[in-house]
Amino acid sequence: MRDDPTRSAMFRDNERAWDARVPVHAASAFYDLAGFRAGALSLKAPERALVGEVRGKRLLHLMCHFGLDTLSWARLGAREVVGVDFSAEAVRLAAGLAAELALPARFVRCNVYDTQSALDERFDVVFTSYGVLGWLPDLVPWARVVHDSLEPGGRFVLVEFHPYVWMSQVGPDLAIRYPYFDRGPISETTDGTYADRSAELRLVEHGWNHSIADVVNALLGAGLRLERLEELDSVPYDVFPNLVRGADGGYRFRAAEGMVPMLLGLVATRP
Ligand SMILES: C[S@@+](CC[C@H](N)C(=O)[O-])C[C@H]1O[C@@H](n2cnc3c(N)ncnc32)[C@H](O)[C@@H]1O
Repeated sequence: MRDDPTRSAMFRDNERAWDARVPVHAASAFYDLAGFRAGALSLKAPERALVGEVRGKRLLHLMCHFGLDTLSWARLGAREVVGVDFSAEAVRLAAGLAAELALPARFVRCNVYDTQSALDERFDVVFTSYGVLGWLPDLVPWARVVHDSLEPGGRFVLVEFHPYVWMSQVGPDLAIRYPYFDRGPISETTDGTYADRSAELRLVEHGWNHSIADVVNALLGAGLRLERLEELDSVPYDVFPNLVRGADGGYRFRAAEGMVPMLLGLVATRP
């Protein structure tokens, strides 16, 4: 994977983009670092429901950004949490927050595909969420990382924007602009970031779309057992253009409120 020079160059662009986002995100109202420092949890209802009780458990958070969700699981009583991310800036901020807030957390900087060589450990729960799969060119080795990071009987939880959303989300409407299926890398230069659309950031990034079948089959192929699959009609974050907030707090596209899938939730276990 990393030996492929094109992919390595794409990972480098993506890493640079995420490093650049970190200070902007840390200063944003979206991430509300002040509220987090004061004790708030960043986790939302879908992942709370699918992960369940974490008290006393060891949890691995893949692609953890600067760790607010990772640290929130620790606040909820996880015995130890470990976050993995390839952004040095993200990991530095996350580790600083863990120390400052005296939470039982470690952060490891590596490409998610290299998790086993960076961290040869097994966990009761592996968790990953909101804007992760689209950075991965191949889900088969990713699913192997998930499997190999779990204790037998351990639980994997994915909460991700629905692949439907990635067909159109950056446009002003719901017109289809990108394939539902993985048809190779989607390379773009973007301005701003979801946490601050007017931020002075110009980022070169590469992403890949993955169908639900690709996600599920990669996990089954790695030896995991699918326990639950959910498709929800809203997301808990105001991250795409032209969303409206419903009475339930969920965000939906103004152009098709409640009509399209927006969130994918999945639970799988290692037998
Ligand atoms: C959208 S963020 C995850 C959001 C997270 N749920 C949050 O809001 O805190 C995606 C994260 O994946 C990380 N990432 C992207 N590609 C990666 C890779 N190949 N290996 C490890 N981390 C990666 C980025 O550095 C970024 O922190």
